[in-house]
Parts: sequence; structure tokens; C-alpha cells
Amino acid sequence: MIEVRNLEKSFGPNRVLAGVTLRIERGESVVVIGRSGGGKSILLKHLIGLLTPDAGEVLIDGQSLGRMNERQLLVVRRKFGMLFQGAALFDSLTVAENVGFVLRREGDLPQAQITRRVAEALEMVDLAGTQDKKPAELSGGMRKRVGLARAIIYRPQIVLYDEPTTGLDPIVADSIDQLIVRLTERLDVTSVAVTHDMRSARRIGQRILMLHEGRIHTSATPDELFASTDPVVQRFVNGVADPRIPGVN
Ligand SMILES: Nc1ncnc2c1ncn2[C@@H]1O[C@H](COP(=O)(O)OP(=O)(O)O)[C@@H](O)[C@H]1O
Ligand SMILES: [Mg+2]
Repeated sequence: MIEVRNLEKSFGPNRVLAGVTLRIERGESVVVIGRSGGGKSILLKHLIGLLTPDAGEVLIDGQSLGRMNERQLLVVRRKFGMLFQGAALFDSLTVAENVGFVLRREGDLPQAQITRRVAEALEMVDLAGTQDKKPAELSGGMRKRVGLARAIIYRPQIVLYDEPTTGLDPIVADSIDQLIVRLTERLDVTSVAVTHDMRSARRIGQRILMLHEGRIHTSATPDELFASTDPVVQRFVNGVADPRIPGVN
């Protein structure tokens, strides 16, 4: 469903992606791990065509994003829901307005249907009845769940999560991970999450890809990853900083 071939991206002298190649099948739940600043968010943005690669290509359902015009890109983007890092809610809008934002912007659904879809999405993330609250009234975990409701309101085929548990305490992080697993099953979607949190990666990923020095260093199941004898993988999994290996931790 998602294929990335030799993706390269630099910002000035900073070579962030140095040839990323990966394949994600329909229905898979994949987590990309890697250190902060390692290019995970940049990789996600390439998957939905928000960034253009310097070299290489991204294919969604076999179609290369690089060969598409804006209109075709919009059609492909509709297959995606995305939970942005930090949830990225509009503070001046209510929860219902935030969640229904994309539906309202499209302008082709009557308000009653938008209201119903918003209520459904909020129920799926265990936030029924919070429609009229403002983001500032919500806890960090609740804001993430509003972001999740917004990501799924479009009934996407693929959901991308950028650091879904970063900045949350461990118990709230657990509950968000459980919610992601449940949503993935219930909505029958393909999911790709990026995180530097190994605990979270283990809970939500059927397969874990490790991004290291701009490339996919390893693709493995969580159990394989934890059993790996590869020093780069081991240090990341154990959270040990090693000054001899640049880019770990
Ligand atoms: N728009 C941008 N312009 C210049 N550099 C950027 C931009 N976005 C990200 N970067 C750089 O790219 C690198 C990877 O960023 P990012 O993908 O956000 O890392 P991660 O999500 O893994 O923490 C960082 O060094 C960051 O400073
Ligand atoms: Mg990031």
C-alpha cells in the first residue's frame, strides 16, 4: 500500500534522509523508531506529499506521488488521516469544530451529518459529550484523543501518527496506545506511527522499522528487535547513550 524507494532529503548541509526504502502492506501496523531529530516527521510528511524528495519516490497503491498534479495529490491525501505531533488543535475552536474541520471545509455535507459524524468519532476515542469544550479545558491525553478523532473523521484507509505518546505521562501514554490498537482494528486501517518511545512502539507495532542515519537500519517484529544483538539496535532499545555511535539517543 505504501512503498518508499531510495528517498533522499537534505536541508542545506543537513542530510536528513539518505536513501530510505520501505514497504508497508495493507492492514499492517508499522512503527518507525529513531532518535529525535533523526528525520521521522520528515519521512511522514513525504508519505502524504507535504514534502517533495530530493531523490527517490513514494508510491501509494502503486502510484508515484512525484508524477501527480495538485488535484491528484488531494485525492491521495484523502486516503490518509494524520495525528500531528502535539495534536495541533485550533485553540479558538471547540472540540466539535476541531474534529469536524475538514468535513466543514469540504462543504458538501449537511450540518446534521457533520454533527453525527463528529459525535461518532468522539465516541470512538472515548470523548463522547465533549463537543462544546475548548482545547484549553482538556488534559494532554484528551487533546491527543481529539486529534485522533479528527484524524479518523474522514474514514481514512491509512492513519499516520506522529509521536502519539510524546509528552504524556506513562499511564496516559498506555491508554493512547491501547486506543490506537483498538482504532486500527475497528476501522480496518493501515497504520504508520513514528516515535522515539520504545515502550509505545512495542505496544502498537506489528513490525518496527528503525531509522538510523537517514536509512532504515532494521525491520523486525518487536520481539526480534528486543532480542537483536546488533549494537545500534541494542543501544536504542535499552535507551543507553553511547558516545562512540553518533546518532543513537
Ligand atoms: N523545514 C525544515 N527546514 C530545515 N530543516 C528542517 C526542517 N524540518 C526539519 N528539519 C531538520 O530535519 C531534521 C529531522 O527533523 P524531524 O523529521 O522533525 O526529526 P524527528 O521527527 O525524527 O525528531 C532535524 O535536524 C531538523 O532540524
Ligand atoms: Mg518528529
